[in-house]
Amino acid sequence: MTSSFKPLSQDLSHPSQGNWPLAIELKQVGKNFAARNGTLHFAALTDVDLQVRAGRILGVIGPSGAGKSTLIRLVNGLEKVSSGTLTLLGEDATHYSEKEWRSLRGKIGMIFQHFNLLSSRTVYDNIALPLEIQGYERKSIDARVRELLPLVGLEDKASHYPSELSGGQKQRVGIARALASKPNILLCDEATSALDPDTTKSILFLLKTINRQLGVTILVITHEIPVIKDLCDDVAVIDQGRIIESGPVFDVFTNPKHAITARFVETVTHVEIPAHLVSVLQPEASARGAALVKITFTGQNATSPVISHLTNIIGADINIVAGRIDAISERPFGTLLVSVPAEPIVLQACQAAILALGLTQSLLGYLAPSHADARVYEWAEFLRTPKVVEA
Ligand SMILES: Nc1ncnc2c1ncn2[C@@H]1O[C@H](COP(=O)(O)OP(=O)(O)OP(=O)(O)O)[C@@H](O)[C@H]1O
Ligand SMILES: [Mg+2]
Repeated sequence: MTSSFKPLSQDLSHPSQGNWPLAIELKQVGKNFAARNGTLHFAALTDVDLQVRAGRILGVIGPSGAGKSTLIRLVNGLEKVSSGTLTLLGEDATHYSEKEWRSLRGKIGMIFQHFNLLSSRTVYDNIALPLEIQGYERKSIDARVRELLPLVGLEDKASHYPSELSGGQKQRVGIARALASKPNILLCDEATSALDPDTTKSILFLLKTINRQLGVTILVITHEIPVIKDLCDDVAVIDQGRIIESGPVFDVFTNPKHAITARFVETVTHVEIPAHLVSVLQPEASARGAALVKITFTGQNATSPVISHLTNIIGADINIVAGRIDAISERPFGTLLVSVPAEPIVLQACQAAILALGLTQSLLGYLAPSHADARVYEWAEFLRTPKVVEA
């Protein structure tokens, strides 16, 4: 076997440009399971259309019982489709025999939530296992394992047993084992669900590196929205066996069409109005009060210096009340809640400036001046009032 691995780098720009071929395609796929009484059928998947272009990362997200595991089990041949067609790497695999699946499986690697390592084998031997099964010579197996160990950051753990590894290290072994036969496709079934947030981040970074540097197409199923946000290029939302929404992650996250998608997305994009303001928010402006405005930053406009424009150019007193700026599919996205003077001319100028900067805004309500603000206004009034100087 020859090496196709390049050293790791921080450059994770996308290699898949233009109209690359489809690595995975499901057309009108249905999957029925026999119900308990043996007569009725339970439809776990209905009319599923899904396309994963070569070199991209697609995440399928949905609530428990939605059909995610069933979907991935169809793609690795553990279950057969009941209707529709399944095309893998350009070949119609809908009616593949077990023998045909065995030869295809070398091109499809899989990693699991609970790692599925053999406890009696060392890290080295776990990674070597699929190559031994495929009958490779010991020398080429050794070359391949020694190439994979540094890729997943486990050079110093080759002789350790799974019981001596952390969860993140076990998943790295799982990833190396899945890559052993140089697959074109990597399937991930809840690969980070058993890991803590920091370890999840490092595993997602490793998966992205594998995709960007080796060009491996990745299909991820998950119920964790950060996995979609930090790893995937495209997303499909599944509910009750049907794909209800799909598209590039940035587009779906910033403009969800379906209520279930909106609920998932809300956990990473939503900014709460602070509790102490919710109770005092009013529908009408009051004298010297403020307007609460939500500003949404997307894509290239996300870096607009909006606050400094509003304060320096318009001269408005802006107070940041809450906010979050994040990256979705490596593109900035954020929301800021700001209070702006409710005086109509100032508020309108601010709203026009926000729109001119290419950002979106909405008026959430009005706030009465705080006690401290009222005191400041009183003092300003006092200073402006001409004083009678006694002779
Ligand atoms: N072998 C089977 N026989 C009968 N029903 C099944 C079988 N496998 C799955 N199902 C049913 O199909 C539906 C989808 O199951 P699936 O495991 O795909 O859900 P999931 O989205 O992976 O859920 P989770 O997030 O909880 O893992 C469920 O209602 C499940 O009970
Ligand atoms: Mg599942």
